[in-house]
Amino acid sequence: MLSYIIQGGNELNGNVVASGSKNAALPIIATAILNPEPVTLYNIPDIEDTKITLEILKLLGCKITKNNGKITICSKNMNKTAIPKELMHKLRSTVVLAGAIIGRFKEATFSYPGGCNIGARPIDLHLDSFKKLGITIDEREEYIHCKCDKILGKRIKLKFPSVGATENIILSSVYAKGATHITNAAKEPEIKDLAKCLNSMGAKVFGAGTGEITIFGVKKLHKATYKIMADRIETGTLLCAVAGAGGSVTVENTNPENLLTVLYSLKEMGCHIKINKDKISLQAPKQLKAIDIETEPYPGFPTDMQPIMGALLTKAEGKSNIKENIFENRFKYTEELIRMGANIIQEDKNIEITGVTELVGKEVMSKDLRGGAALVIAGLMAKGETKVNNIEYILRGYENLDIKLKSLGANIKKEKVN
Ligand code: EPZ
Repeated sequence: MLSYIIQGGNELNGNVVASGSKNAALPIIATAILNPEPVTLYNIPDIEDTKITLEILKLLGCKITKNNGKITICSKNMNKTAIPKELMHKLRSTVVLAGAIIGRFKEATFSYPGGCNIGARPIDLHLDSFKKLGITIDEREEYIHCKCDKILGKRIKLKFPSVGATENIILSSVYAKGATHITNAAKEPEIKDLAKCLNSMGAKVFGAGTGEITIFGVKKLHKATYKIMADRIETGTLLCAVAGAGGSVTVENTNPENLLTVLYSLKEMGCHIKINKDKISLQAPKQLKAIDIETEPYPGFPTDMQPIMGALLTKAEGKSNIKENIFENRFKYTEELIRMGANIIQEDKNIEITGVTELVGKEVMSKDLRGGAALVIAGLMAKGETKVNNIEYILRGYENLDIKLKSLGANIKKEKVN
């Protein structure tokens, strides 16, 4: 098991560069399955989730070459359409690989991705959408077998603007006969990035970023090179780290447009924020102010920033309320914060945080990706030493988080424990 050892109390100052987006990288890597021509990608973060996704593509017969920051994937000789169960469970988002495999090979076999620590994570919206596109779904012995003669473009109205289901409909419709139209599509920036990447290889995806997306089927795709967007959640995490620890930071190579609700919340808390095209600067205030937050599908406040904000608000003066509307089990991190001295009461989908509490360093356990990041923020603010265990969760989604924080002045080191 790996841990972070953090000595709290240091101010953080300086510049740091955001990595590529985990949640854009995964569906964009899947485009290389759809496209038999070489796909070269830049800015793919070197994190567990992308490593596992690339490992799956290799197992499916794709050729992958990496050199100084670029990854070239060629699926011309891809010869398998079944995602191995053991890898499927390692990573929930492999379900979007299914959409790409079906889109190209008209068949795919995969298993239920399995819930994770923030909720049941069902895929009913994905499967219902596949059925509407003419794909038969056969569920036997834990595996889901999808098959069709051809994919017929259809109008699909999503009950909920699911990010993954929207991505799967787009990927499986690229070569469809006719056109597919999604109503109530997810509007997340990662969907826009996926569409931009697909269109750079000859697909015809329109409206991404809005609730209405149309995909006109094409016959083939051509080779492409694409640089993926910056990670907006990593950017928000780094900004919150400085807001809590004190100091000032400029996050570079990022896109302020993609996290406006987070920036506004930080401003409401008293932070001084300056934005320009691809940079965000934050100066921490002497005293943070309490605010209320409610998570919503994009462009609302992102659920992935909820735990990180929860940790930060322990240092805000007054009572803050957070309502989590997206996932049913995303407050697990609060148990650990309470052990560090936080004053947090949960009632169903709401938590009330009373600040200011001077957190005290403790040995704590990461229980999921963003909850783990919340504990790192808490450790940076706490008095004394905090040991964050099970940071494998954090390494799934953050590239070199400790190195970036250390470059800003944090006293943090990674340690292997038995
Ligand atoms: C993506 O997950 C992200 N993951 C999540 O980031 C993010 O929190 C989420 O979108 C919401 O923005 C990736 O992109 C790899 P959803 P996804 O489908 O696609 C319910 C992180 O920390 N739902 O929009 O799984 C679901 O249970 C991760 O980086 C169904 O009911 O999210 C949830 O309550 C965590 N049926 C809600 O919709 C379905 O078929 C949102 O899920 C699908 C989803």
